[in-house]
Amino acid sequence: MGKIGHLIYQEKIVDSTQFLAASLASEGAEEGVVVSANIQTAGRGQKKRTWYTGEGDNIAMSIILKPHLLPHECPQITLLAAVAVVQAIEEVTSLKPTIKWPNDILINEKKLVGILTEMKISQNELQHIILGIGMNVNVSLELLDKEIRHIATSISIETGNQFDKINLMKVIFDKLEILYRQFLENGFTAIKPLWEKYATIVRNEVIANVNGIQIEGKATGISNNGILLIEDNMGKIHELYSADISMKSAQK
Ligand code: BTN
Repeated sequence: MGKIGHLIYQEKIVDSTQFLAASLASEGAEEGVVVSANIQTAGRGQKKRTWYTGEGDNIAMSIILKPHLLPHECPQITLLAAVAVVQAIEEVTSLKPTIKWPNDILINEKKLVGILTEMKISQNELQHIILGIGMNVNVSLELLDKEIRHIATSISIETGNQFDKINLMKVIFDKLEILYRQFLENGFTAIKPLWEKYATIVRNEVIANVNGIQIEGKATGISNNGILLIEDNMGKIHELYSADISMKSAQK
């Protein structure tokens, strides 16, 4: 098993690092290989959204993982990646980011990092996971895409300082390596409280929108499978795999 980040393909411009990493993985690239780019022309986000990586010295990278896991265990990789990225930001900067379920990393309620986990399954067997991480590092407010300026931010906007993105990537790899090996050996149990510590919705009243249906209640945490648990006012626990979540106070 190669260490995360033992080999990095550093590209100037690609369509999406996810595509390049997926084709390398299918051609036999080892676990831990990373594809990183300065600019993406077709960066991809969750729910078929686009992810903007333009000028401004940001992180756009995709990490190849080849764990022996069942496909339904893979969402936990996204959660542990979010914890690793928050830990890295805390170590390198003075910022205290939070996690918005399942995998957005926010500062002052603005998005700083997006994580996209994609897997290839063949004959019910997991072939590889491509863990994509996009982080706004040194981009200024002026260089942020106009459409996202009101909802996104960068480390330099928040701190007023520039950061070495290569060093940040290295710290992310180190944190990921620890949590990923821990997860493969002992499961999600030790990672769950770390995720819950950083997730702002845990212990708060929320409104979840699941395919147009609203569920109101208190987010009590996540299950060992990484499923969000919401307790409604009748005491019923709802298990959510995917939903748009907002805090109740934020709605008013
Ligand atoms: C999100 O929608 O929040 C997820 C964004 C993920 C963006 C990263 S940038 C590196 C990798 N390449 C992509 O095309 N997307 C991911």
